[in-house]
Amino acid sequence: MSSIVVVGGRRLTGEVRVGGAKNSALKLMAAALLAPGASTLTNVPAIADVDVMHELLAGLGAGAVRSDHALTIDASSLTSHEAPYEMVARMRASTSVLGSLVARLGRARVALPGGCNIGSRKIDMHIEGLRALGVHVDVAHGYIEAVAPDGLTGTVVPLDFPSVGATENLLMAGALARGRTVIENAAREPEIRDLIAFLETMGARIEGAGTSTVTIDGVESLHACEHEVVGDRIEAGTYVVAGALGKGPVTVRGFDPEHLDIVLAKLAAAGVDVDRAKDGVTISRSGPVQPVDVATLPYPGFPTDMQAQFMTLMAVADGSSVITENVFENRFMFADELSRMGADIRIDGHHALVRGVPQLSAAPVRCTDLRGGAALVLAGLVADGTTAVTDVHHIERGYEGFVQKLASLGAEIRTEAAPGAEE
Ligand code: UD1
Repeated sequence: MSSIVVVGGRRLTGEVRVGGAKNSALKLMAAALLAPGASTLTNVPAIADVDVMHELLAGLGAGAVRSDHALTIDASSLTSHEAPYEMVARMRASTSVLGSLVARLGRARVALPGGCNIGSRKIDMHIEGLRALGVHVDVAHGYIEAVAPDGLTGTVVPLDFPSVGATENLLMAGALARGRTVIENAAREPEIRDLIAFLETMGARIEGAGTSTVTIDGVESLHACEHEVVGDRIEAGTYVVAGALGKGPVTVRGFDPEHLDIVLAKLAAAGVDVDRAKDGVTISRSGPVQPVDVATLPYPGFPTDMQAQFMTLMAVADGSSVITENVFENRFMFADELSRMGADIRIDGHHALVRGVPQLSAAPVRCTDLRGGAALVLAGLVADGTTAVTDVHHIERGYEGFVQKLASLGAEIRTEAAPGAEE
């Protein structure tokens, strides 16, 4: 087990490039199961979650070959329809094979995800949606057993909440269903658009990408194809906040700034200069950070995946702000760690009152989850001394070359084997 050690106080300047979006790549890999043949994804990030999905696909009989950031997945002949508990327990997004397996093979057996570090994260909308499409779904002994021997039949599926995962599973299922599937109150995240673009290249017929109503006219079969994963807006947002903390100018490239619209608007309100280009932004700051309230919401609202990083910025603001988490029930866990670094945070339900302090103080801290972990490293960039962040496997799930990219901007940062580590 390694840790990330960061010495605070260095000014950050320069340019970093982000990779393909984790949350898109994982779903595109699942979608590749829909078509016999070999599909190639490019701009695939080299992160631990992609490795887990790679392993899961191999277990299903879909061999994948990686070359640099390209991944070719051969789903010609699938040999299993099961996502076992060991895989789902390692990565919740394993459940995204549910829709593609049942659509392609007429059956799927997927372990129920348990709780995770950011809340209970139910899966009821995925199941109800598939049932509406005529899939017989049983939930027993910790597994979802989905069977549709005669295929799926399109219908209108209204979602109670624009769930990203449910929208994705239903898109994949609807692509091969008989007739028309309409997903109402669909999620609109850029990663959903990316999945729709991939499915369309495979031959799917879909209307309404990027809107709340997505209409899918099912086709008999899909074909393998090539697709480039959309740039990772959350990885980008993390370096954007690093740039705001480290004063910049920092340029972050490889993503569409429109995908980070509200985050960039909030940063501007916080006194950060934001200069947008076509494929990135340049961030700089000369004055103090101003306090700004944010509330997380489904896209195009403020992303819950940027909440922790923004809280770190607000922790050193010149005043108080309120951060409201509306998407996940338990996403303030990292705030206790941030408080150990001198942040003044009071949590009340899904609100956090953050009173800015002039300086954070370096301390040993522990990652509680992926984005919270990244936010602690960001805090270390502006703390007075040396911060050691442990349990960094959370960060490795979703950031390729996190330490190297921050170091390239001038951060004094390194990875260290934890004292007493056995491997
Ligand atoms: C995805 C992203 C995650 C991001 C989240 C919201 C991946 C791998 N993960 O997660 O990084 O933070 O979108 O943008 O893409 N819910 C239900 N029933 C359901 C499904 C969801 O109650 O059937 C609830 C969840 O418990 C949660 C909320 O809806 O409180 C949002 O979940 P959802 O949008 O589905 O997020 P994920 O797809 O799990």
